[in-house]
Amino acid sequence: MTQPSSTPMKGILLAGGSGTRLYPMTLAASKQLLPVYDKPMVYYPLSTLMLAGIRDIMIISTPLDLPQFQRLLGDGSQFGVNFEYRVQEKPEGIPQAFLIAEDWLQNAPCALALGDNLIFADHLSTSLQLAAQRTTGATLFAYQVRDPERYGVVSFDKTGRALSIVEKPAMPASNWAVTGLYFYDNRVLDFAKRVRPSARGELEITDLNRFYLEDGSLHVDRLGRGCAWLDAGLPDSLMEAGQFVNTIQARQGMLVGSPAEVAFRMGYITPAQLRTHAQRMGKTELGRVLTLIADSA
Ligand code: DAU
Repeated sequence: MTQPSSTPMKGILLAGGSGTRLYPMTLAASKQLLPVYDKPMVYYPLSTLMLAGIRDIMIISTPLDLPQFQRLLGDGSQFGVNFEYRVQEKPEGIPQAFLIAEDWLQNAPCALALGDNLIFADHLSTSLQLAAQRTTGATLFAYQVRDPERYGVVSFDKTGRALSIVEKPAMPASNWAVTGLYFYDNRVLDFAKRVRPSARGELEITDLNRFYLEDGSLHVDRLGRGCAWLDAGLPDSLMEAGQFVNTIQARQGMLVGSPAEVAFRMGYITPAQLRTHAQRMGKTELGRVLTLIADSA
């Protein structure tokens, strides 16, 4: 087994798949580029990875869609980070992302964010940075939902330690869903190579997480009631996510899911670079707020 690494954590943004549950919207467009209120969906999980302090990020999508992501995001310099792009030929499972990234990973620990998952929480950056700095084990985030059978489900013992983790169980042992944001130590590639296809023919991220559970090194951070976790994979959840962002931004005048703002607050870009970015947004409200943030520095 690989030794713990002191290399900074890298991040993968997985934005492939066929988005069939959003047809016809995704017949000619990538799901993860659809708008969530005033930004492309991928901005939200990207901001989350950046908030964790991760600056080397690989974006994985389908052969058809990847060029659109490159057009939108470029090489990352506008946000003071580095983007790398790779194709996933077929959606054969979430842990395949690590196999695709093998040569780029170079024994670094790695986080994975699903491109259709949005998390909003107070003090989120503290929990994210803690997860990104943990040198051994894996960290998952769990969220209480009404319909756990749609997700990976984690149950806990009396002391709060994870007991079991099951993908889309018919009889869920708890209502804690595993969100699409995962932080792994540098053993993740070894574990990903050991995952075998499930009954539905896919490599399951839950099977990879179970290796960490069995190893006794799975940390699960339970998101409390003040947090929102939305997976924008269905028409209703897509609209709810958009309304949520709109409500917060309109009421508080603050931005949600802006990689430019995160880059500025993390010190990756200067006020002048943020202003240039804001100017590119033209006369939009987003551009106006970004300019205000740059001017207040
Ligand atoms: O949203 C959180 C849930 O995501 C977790 O609770 C589950 O444990 C996890 O398996 C996953 O469940 P989903 O049913 O949402 O997985 P789905 O197949 O829809 O894939 C999630 C996203 O990842 C989706 O936006 C497409 C992308 N994807 C998926 C696969 C299987 C890829 O880019 N490539 C793939 O091969």
